Amino acid sequence: MSTEVTRLIQSHRSIRKYTEEPIDGEILTDILTCGQWAPSSHNVQAYSVIVVRSSEKKQQLAVLTGGQQWVEECPVFLVFCADFYKLQQACEMNGETIAAEGVESFLVAAVDTALAAENVLLAARSYGLGGVMIGGIRNNPREVAELLGLPPLTYPIMGMCLGYPAQDIEQKPRLPMRAYVHEEQYDTDGIREALQEYEEISAAYYERRTKGKQTDGWTKQMAHYVNKPRRVHMKEFVQGQGFRLE
Ligand SMILES: Cc1cc2nc3c(=O)[nH]c(=O)nc-3n(C[C@H](O)[C@H](O)[C@H](O)COP(=O)(O)O)c2cc1C
Repeated sequence: MSTEVTRLIQSHRSIRKYTEEPIDGEILTDILTCGQWAPSSHNVQAYSVIVVRSSEKKQQLAVLTGGQQWVEECPVFLVFCADFYKLQQACEMNGETIAAEGVESFLVAAVDTALAAENVLLAARSYGLGGVMIGGIRNNPREVAELLGLPPLTYPIMGMCLGYPAQDIEQKPRLPMRAYVHEEQYDTDGIREALQEYEEISAAYYERRTKGKQTDGWTKQMAHYVNKPRRVHMKEFVQGQGFRLE
């Protein structure tokens, strides 16, 4: 069973190489409009997107995201930002004071932004474009905020490279369904076995994709990835932007 939409979603692959072909302005506007049609918590629409086309700025962002070449090479780079600045403005317009201190505001903005971003990526793919999200935008958030003129109560959540694909790569396999979907309540029983199965499937995939350079599967890779805190500077940064996380 499938539809055009489910086939599009299930054929996802992150694309990191692009042709020289530019993205037409009307296409980009249509794609960005799709971001706004994501559902939004209490309709706060707590996100903004910065469209970066300037080669110089993309070059700077490629460095700030940890030397990611595709950030520089894509014709359009988008930066999705959580944004309560607009809500602060709405408060001021109406004689109120914003209370964005809570973890909840931080979460609301992050969730809203991510929903908009995925809509944009899917819409882009429906036009034959490809792309990849860039969490590396949080490697140097202060410098990114300065470069993009981000006001208080905003923070960059993810970048997104977009362009016409110049690579055709195998899809990265996902976890078995039973490690993802649970009926009525979480079932811990089958998780280890499902992870073992995925370890083998993913190891074979990485071996193919890297021509034998990477032979670890998902559990081994994740065990090395989540065994230490990451981007610890983020807490101080978002607090400095006005999300006190109280
Ligand atoms: C929020 C987010 C941040 C990501 N950050 C990066 C990144 O900085 N650089 C990169 O090359 N890929 C990045 N990715 C892409 C993931 O590595 C990729 O989605 C994942 O490995 C699954 O592969 P697939 O998208 O090809 O299926 C990011 C994806 C997400 C959702």
